[in-house]
Amino acid sequence: MENRVIIGGQWGDEGKGKIIDAFGEGFDWVLRYQGGANAGHTIQVGAKEHVLHLIPSGIFREGVRCFLGNGMVIDPWALRDEIVALEEKGVSVRDRLYVSSAASLLMPYHKRLDELREQLRKRKSIGTTGRGIGPAYQDKLQRSGLRLGALTMPLEKLERTAIEHILEANEILAGQFEAEPLPAKVLAEELVVLAQTLRPMIVDGFTALRGIRERRESALFEGAQGTLLDIDHGTFPYVTSSNCTVGGAVTGTGLPPRSLGEIVGVFKAYCTRVGNGPFPTELLAEEGEHLRKLGGEFGATTGRPRRCGWFDLVAGRYTVGVNGLSGAVITKLDVLDTLPTIKVAEAYDLDGERLDDFPVRPDMLPRVRPVLKEIPGWEKPTNKAKKLADLPSPARKYLEYLEKELGVLIVGVSVGKARDEMILTPTGVTT
Ligand code: IMP
Repeated sequence: MENRVIIGGQWGDEGKGKIIDAFGEGFDWVLRYQGGANAGHTIQVGAKEHVLHLIPSGIFREGVRCFLGNGMVIDPWALRDEIVALEEKGVSVRDRLYVSSAASLLMPYHKRLDELREQLRKRKSIGTTGRGIGPAYQDKLQRSGLRLGALTMPLEKLERTAIEHILEANEILAGQFEAEPLPAKVLAEELVVLAQTLRPMIVDGFTALRGIRERRESALFEGAQGTLLDIDHGTFPYVTSSNCTVGGAVTGTGLPPRSLGEIVGVFKAYCTRVGNGPFPTELLAEEGEHLRKLGGEFGATTGRPRRCGWFDLVAGRYTVGVNGLSGAVITKLDVLDTLPTIKVAEAYDLDGERLDDFPVRPDMLPRVRPVLKEIPGWEKPTNKAKKLADLPSPARKYLEYLEKELGVLIVGVSVGKARDEMILTPTGVTT
């Protein structure tokens, strides 16, 4: 069985959770490799909806082993809560979850610093999820942060180390922000308790993933956020602090590039973005509100309303290229069911000049206007469709158009929240 990487094709929230769950069957492992509890993967299993932030969506498939890679920043408080919540729902976690000892430890002061730095940025705030992601990666790159492996130290040493780090952070909180200190002793004691719960799951990544390297075991790589939020290739500075593009799957697990297999990008049939930053196809006022209501576009992590707009082919082609996608999945097609016409950005206009390529320069993107093509809607429900032929003809035409313009095979189309509201199209959608 070929391994597979699932990548967000837009600004996150493309519905990856459901796709990872739908495509997760048969894999031995599901691996997360970047980000932290800023992700919010929503999965519908039976009548119940589950939101996961740290643990891979593969946890809902029995017997699948889940791995949190070295590229992640992990809040042990959030991880414990997620494990407990899943276990309360009857999902076994502890015997199937493996956490890399080289993952970065995200501490409460990272969250506090995230909040305070956002306040300081005022009008230029990024609109982060407030989960401490940027400050935790900053400590990693500064080579001063703790790693998950610290939780396996003798407990007294762990407590002393944690206190030292919290006191250092308190100096920054007081010195730079005149903010209240965090209770070092209390938090360090809590960490000692958490360490005892999490220790059995902390492993050496190289050893744990040996079976994948030796090709005896198969892996699905679960991307979080999306290509346009990538720290290097996204719409900097309005991005997250990790590599959401395909390279992150290599550096964030320690597995070699050759182990990646298929690279599948997930795109919504339209576009959304939470947080600030340029969004060329954004719909404002009532039009945006209408799409937000149709799609139930509110953040799974923060509950914030998502900004909504039309599908952006310029950004889409960029995603295909940057990640070398071998396939694409289109999600939430059913959200467009009632619209008489649908628009798609074919190119951008920058001061009267046509741009076909996505401009990575941060000063250009906010100034572009989308060159929109109008496409007839289908005004019929699509969520019962089990195969392409069941879709109304304009819906099939829309998909064919996206496939042609993106230049990648569309290998699946999601038409609803449920696991089975999914059309698999391994040979593409163009007949
Ligand atoms: P951070 O990752 O919390 O630092 O937030 C940086 C930017 O990425 C903000 O615009 C967030 O809204 C956005 N972001 C982070 N995680 C997600 C996600 O899982 N889905 C969508 N947007 C996200």
